[in-house]
Amino acid sequence: MSSWNDLLEGKVAVVTGASRGIGRQDALTLAEAGADVVITDILIESDEENEQAAEKYGPIAQVMQSTDVMYAEKTAKEIQDMGRRSFAIKMDVTDRDQVRDVFAKVIKEFGKIDILINNAGTLDHVSQLENQNDEFWDRDLNVNLSGTYNCTKAVWPYMKEQGDGRIINMSSVAGTLGGFGQASYSATKGGILSFTKSMALEGARHGINVNAIVPGIIGTEAFNMGNAKMNERMKERTAFKQPGEPEDIANAITFLVSDKAKYITGVGLNVTGGIELFTF
Ligand SMILES: NC(=O)c1ccc[n+]([C@@H]2O[C@H](COP(=O)([O-])OP(=O)(O)OC[C@H]3O[C@@H](n4cnc5c(N)ncnc54)[C@H](O)[C@@H]3O)[C@@H](O)[C@H]2O)c1
Repeated sequence: MSSWNDLLEGKVAVVTGASRGIGRQDALTLAEAGADVVITDILIESDEENEQAAEKYGPIAQVMQSTDVMYAEKTAKEIQDMGRRSFAIKMDVTDRDQVRDVFAKVIKEFGKIDILINNAGTLDHVSQLENQNDEFWDRDLNVNLSGTYNCTKAVWPYMKEQGDGRIINMSSVAGTLGGFGQASYSATKGGILSFTKSMALEGARHGINVNAIVPGIIGTEAFNMGNAKMNERMKERTAFKQPGEPEDIANAITFLVSDKAKYITGVGLNVTGGIELFTF
C-alpha cells in the first residue's frame, strides 16, 4: 500500500501534457494513490509525427524531441507495473476532434472518467510586448487557455452523467502576479483562474469540483532549460530559496481530487514556496 492509503482506488484519471515534468509526476502520484491513469501528450515516444508536432509547438518541444525527453509510454508502463491500468495516447489539446476521440476511447476502455488534470502548457519564451511574437501569442492562448477549455468541454458530459467529477487546471504565479516579458503566458494563466471559478459554479450542481493549482517555480526539465540567471533570481524570491519539485504539485493535486477535499471548489491553491510574499 502506498503512503496515500489507496485514497483514489477505483478512480480513472486523464492527465494532459503528461510525457514529462509536472504532468508525468501527477500521473505517477495519482496511480500511487490507487487511480488508473491515461497519459496524454502531443509527444509520444513511438509516434512518427513527433518532429512535426515539435515544430508546431516551438523551441522547448524541439529540444525535448531531439533529446528524447518524452516518457509517455514509459510512464504508462511504470503505472501498469504498480498494478493499475494505464495507456499512453497522443492528444493535442488544441485539436478538438482529437480531444473528443480520445475521451470517447477512455470511456470505451475504462467505462468512466473521474479526474481530469489540465496540465499541458507552453513555457518557452520571454519577451517584452514590442517583441512578442504574434504566433507565440496565438499558440499560448490556444494551448494553455483553449486547450483547458477543449478538454473540460469534452469530459463534462461524462462527469455530468456520472454526477461526479474532479477537474484540476494548471495556472501559475504568472497568472496571479503577472510576469515581466510574459504577456501571453500570464494572460492565459490568469484566464485559467477565472475559467476555473466559472466552471466550479456550473459544476457544483452536477457533483463536479473544479479547482486550480498555482505553481511558483518548479524544477522540471523545461524550467531548467530556461535562462540560468533568471531562474536564480526567481529562486531567490521564494521564501525557501529553492524551486519546488514536481511531487509538491502532484501531492496537492492528489488531495484536491480526493473525497477529502469534497467541499473545496473554485480555488486556486498556491504551491509556490512563498514566492508571492512580501519580503525586504
Ligand atoms: N515548471 C514550472 O515552474 C511551472 C510554473 C508554473 C506553472 N507551470 C505549469 O505547469 C504545467 C507543466 O509545466 P512543466 O514545467 O512540466 O512543463 P513541460 O514543458 O515540461 O510540460 C508541458 C507538457 O505539455 C505538453 N504539451 C505542450 N503542448 C501541448 C499540446 N498542444 N497538447 C498536448 N500536450 C502539449 C508538452 O509536450 C509537455 O509534455 C504547464 O501548464 C505550466 O505552465 C509550470
